[in-house]
Amino acid sequence: MLLLQLLCLLPGQALSQPPDTLRESKVAVLSLGLRGRPLREVSPAFLSLTLDASLAQDPRYVTFLSNPKLRTLARALSPGFLRFGGTKTDFLIFDPNKDSTLEEKIIWELQVKQEACGLRSGFSAVEELLLAQWPTQETLILKEQYRKKHKNTTITRNTVDILYSFANCSQLHLIFGLNALLRKNGLQWDSSNAQLLLDYCASQRYNMSWELGNEPNSFRKKSGIYIDGFQLGQDFIHLRHLLNNYTLYRQSKLYGPDVGRPQKHTQKLLRSFLKSGGKVIDSVTWHHYYVNGRSATREDFLSPEVLDTFATAIRDVLEIVDGTVPSKKVWLGETSSAYGGGAPKLSNTYVAGFMWLDKLGLSARQGIDVVMRQVFFGAGTYHLVDANFEPLPDYWLSLLYKNLVGTKVLRVSLKGADQKKLRVYLHCTNTHHPKYREGDVTLFALNLYNATRYLQLPNDLSSKHVDEYLLLPHGKENILSRSIQLNGRVLRMVDDKMLPALNEKPLGPGRNGNLKPLESSESFRWSS
Ligand SMILES: *[C@@H]1O[C@H](CO)[C@@H](O)[C@H](O)[C@H]1NC(C)=O
Ligand SMILES: *[C@@H]1O[C@H](CO)[C@@H](O)[C@H](O)[C@H]1NC(C)=O
Ligand SMILES: *[C@@H]1O[C@H](CO)[C@@H](O)[C@H](O)[C@H]1NC(C)=O
Ligand SMILES: *[C@@H]1O[C@H](CO)[C@@H](O)[C@H](O)[C@H]1NC(C)=O
Ligand SMILES: *[C@@H]1O[C@H](CO)[C@@H](O)[C@H](O)[C@H]1NC(C)=O
Repeated sequence: MLLLQLLCLLPGQALSQPPDTLRESKVAVLSLGLRGRPLREVSPAFLSLTLDASLAQDPRYVTFLSNPKLRTLARALSPGFLRFGGTKTDFLIFDPNKDSTLEEKIIWELQVKQEACGLRSGFSAVEELLLAQWPTQETLILKEQYRKKHKNTTITRNTVDILYSFANCSQLHLIFGLNALLRKNGLQWDSSNAQLLLDYCASQRYNMSWELGNEPNSFRKKSGIYIDGFQLGQDFIHLRHLLNNYTLYRQSKLYGPDVGRPQKHTQKLLRSFLKSGGKVIDSVTWHHYYVNGRSATREDFLSPEVLDTFATAIRDVLEIVDGTVPSKKVWLGETSSAYGGGAPKLSNTYVAGFMWLDKLGLSARQGIDVVMRQVFFGAGTYHLVDANFEPLPDYWLSLLYKNLVGTKVLRVSLKGADQKKLRVYLHCTNTHHPKYREGDVTLFALNLYNATRYLQLPNDLSSKHVDEYLLLPHGKENILSRSIQLNGRVLRMVDDKMLPALNEKPLGPGRNGNLKPLESSESFRWSS
């Protein structure tokens, strides 16, 4: 049985047939790789999340993580990893003896009073107050990032408790980034603070994984300390030995080195790191952003050339990994549209979906095993959930992706259009979806032409059933809207504990294989 689902982003009337006059030039015929083995298989946690460590720049704000709405939204994206990291990673110092902030104490007591993962309702007075102060805090965080002048922050046991509880209760696996800038005479890593943290986490039986340092390629800029790849590799080996000393962490995973975009000097660092410490890491992590949030434009978000720069970056990283530790999985440990917190009025709107969906598509096709989205919640505009705990368009896109797209990646191509401008991706459908079965496939496509395009199934598949999931922006801001509709219904939470149903629109067989016109700047997918 072949069953198709369709998920579109953007306005345009649904035509079953292109007008005769358009037929020649605007129809692209798909070719689906349904026979033979899948191209590859990605992790069940392929779409994963991050929290930026800047949320703990003032640890009082970590208490937002106990918000019931936020937990409902996170759980819906499980299974996955939750990476807690970012620049601030290398400026956090754990103090097991320091008293928590009053806010952390109040929130933690509220939480402990309930069942382990019970959901509070509504807002507490503490939360209301913090929310009112958040815009000021957010400005501080972004300013510190921009100026690259970082201060140390002390975190307490409660900070770790609240973070772990958020991950565990959302059914996400926590990856914690340890501070790599604590050094003995500026040379080897000083593991004493990490040891205090490990002691505490082990005493609470917190099951988690680890990283060491964030974007070591720019340590000098951030702190004046330069650490080369060889030394960083030795530091990872040291951390592995330290982990092996804990019964609970002997089997725990270690990921790294979380390098930034693979520019020349970063490539060199990655290569020497992998030669020196590659054997102790479980996956190789690197970071990717397309553009600078301060200068990015709407056109960047819709540009095939900009999207293709990611493909080049993947190739650069895979080449280094193949040449040093060829069997290791490669992960995007932190990634989003625009660095510096995102591009205002772009990264948090419907138009951001083009970079996000294309990144998911390209990553799976080219051999990235896990993609961790910066950020689930936090400062800036590239978050999936905003400071009012409202899900943004990329949240809903992630939720649909998680529901429909499975781990097996298939080949797909098309004739009759430029494949840079009409981008198509094909996977087996997620078999955990209650409606779809083994043998169904999911396709998603992005139309970067400034005009409508039609996609057609090959003749032998034209009689198959199609389910459509059409995502359109909602409201007069159009493509720059922060609200989104699925098959004509605006998506919003039912209440703090419940998400809306994601209903398909059956298109049925016998449509001569014409799936859906793709209006300009429209993206869609289906499954069969
Ligand atoms: C952070 O603390 C460490 C350890 O005390 C110290 O070596 C480092 O200079 C501090 N960094 C900043 C930016 O204050
Ligand atoms: C993790 O969450 C489960 C419920 O999903 C709960 O029973 C368990 O106690 C939690 N573990 C820890 C260490 O908090
Ligand atoms: C810890 O979590 C990992 C990943 O979810 C899981 O595979 C492992 O069994 C867990 N270990 C323990 C001791 O619960
Ligand atoms: C692990 O424990 C052993 C025995 O207590 C100790 O000698 C060793 O230094 C520890 N390793 C690390 C990396 O702390
Ligand atoms: C897209 O097409 C419209 C009308 O055909 C035109 O006004 C607009 O400038 C075009 N935009 C781009 C980015 O080419």
